[in-house]
Amino acid sequence: GKVAVLMGGTAAEREISLNSGNAVFQALKESGVDALAVDVAGSPIDALAGLKADRVFNIIHGRGGEDGVLQAVLEVMGLPYTGSGVMASALSMDKLRTKLCWQGMGLTTPLWFVLKNEQDIDACIAALGFPVIVKPAQEGSSIGMSKADSREELIEALRVARQYQCDVYAEQWVRGQEYTVGILAGEALPAIRLETPNAFYDFEAKYRANTTLYHCPCGLAAEREQQLQALALQACNGLAVKGWARVDVFIDDNDCAQLIEVNTVPGMTDHSLVPMAAKAAGVDFNQLVWRILETSMA
Ligand code: DAL
Ligand code: MG
Repeated sequence: GKVAVLMGGTAAEREISLNSGNAVFQALKESGVDALAVDVAGSPIDALAGLKADRVFNIIHGRGGEDGVLQAVLEVMGLPYTGSGVMASALSMDKLRTKLCWQGMGLTTPLWFVLKNEQDIDACIAALGFPVIVKPAQEGSSIGMSKADSREELIEALRVARQYQCDVYAEQWVRGQEYTVGILAGEALPAIRLETPNAFYDFEAKYRANTTLYHCPCGLAAEREQQLQALALQACNGLAVKGWARVDVFIDDNDCAQLIEVNTVPGMTDHSLVPMAAKAAGVDFNQLVWRILETSMA
């Protein structure tokens, strides 16, 4: 059958998704799949109309593609698709509700404080101190995020994050090491440790810089890495995530894992982490894309 590779979308991560999507499309072609590249610049219903696709490979990052909205449209259309369903997508796109789920499961995630407006600043400082990292709750690729070390920086960080029209929260800064764990068909890939000279692993460090270091093998003892992988799977299962995903997590200076978020449509660009982890597990890019496609058949 014909596979529609949905890419682009209208969210802030549109350009990243086009990069991911073109790489996926190319890989499917090389594997002999009858694939169709579909740039979803507006309504997904319009984009899919008349295509006669039998299956969807969804590689739209961010709102409208990764947040359950597209997944619901595909359910209604009866089209099988890669990745998580409606609920898991919606929950995972929302970092605040994700944290509430994990807290309910007894999994550790850094303390946070919801910022509705400037009136909340003092209570936030009293609760979390400094530094904090301020995030729009429903964005990706670190868009709209900044670190704040002072009241003035916190006010400015709030102003920046609010531009993305979603909930905003401050999260306690984690001192430790940053890792990410890819999930493919119910199994965890090798962990990657990230190291950046920037204040954090921001948009520039993710896609532009050549100063970001990716360590895979990640340097943890085998047993500790297995624990981290098991935690990542547990964190995904609690949100009903399926198919594939990537879990971002820190190990703090007290050796405690602090879950940050789950991406249900992780990047597949040449700078992206799931392809890197898959490669370390002996799965090349074309095989990875094929195996993600297979998860739409489960
Ligand atoms: N949100 C980006 C695409 C990622 O998680 O890789
Ligand atoms: Mg993300």
